[in-house]
Amino acid sequence: MSQFDEPLSVLFVCLGNICRSPTAQAVFEQQLQAAGLREQVRVDSAGTGDWHIGHAPDPRSVRAAARRGYAMEHLRARQVSRQDFHDFDYILAMDDSNHRDLKRLQPSDGKAALSLFLPWAPALNEREVPDPYYGGEDGFDAVLDLIEQASDALLNHLRQRL
Ligand code: 4NP
Repeated sequence: MSQFDEPLSVLFVCLGNICRSPTAQAVFEQQLQAAGLREQVRVDSAGTGDWHIGHAPDPRSVRAAARRGYAMEHLRARQVSRQDFHDFDYILAMDDSNHRDLKRLQPSDGKAALSLFLPWAPALNEREVPDPYYGGEDGFDAVLDLIEQASDALLNHLRQRL
């Protein structure tokens, strides 16, 4: 039996857990809320790296999200663990490097379906959410554009499982 009550669970993973994956968490939680499914799906995010454990999201991510009405400043970074593969149904990687690191961590008996996030929206025709950390503010808007579309597609998929 699960220690959690929600029927489904999703974990978004990037490198630092301060830009892309907390953005995905905030966007997806709001889409679930709008769809009346917030209580049906547990959502979390984590990083493959340990540099930012306990840190708030990058202020540039917070600002870009706030411009579109998403709140994420309350989130705090954590590192992904092997246990997450037992606790989540879906683990969604932001880029190929994250995906490779997660495959190395994945226990053989974990329940989580591990995949890249963007291919959930085939119309995007993109594999990776580019790391915005070393770029300018516009990179953070580009991250949101991709995440909003992939979240929408993921939500449509999950609806069929609820
Ligand atoms: P994220 O972005 O993986 O989207 O959270 C990054 C955040 C921090 C670093 C790299 C990427 N860093 O090198 O500290």
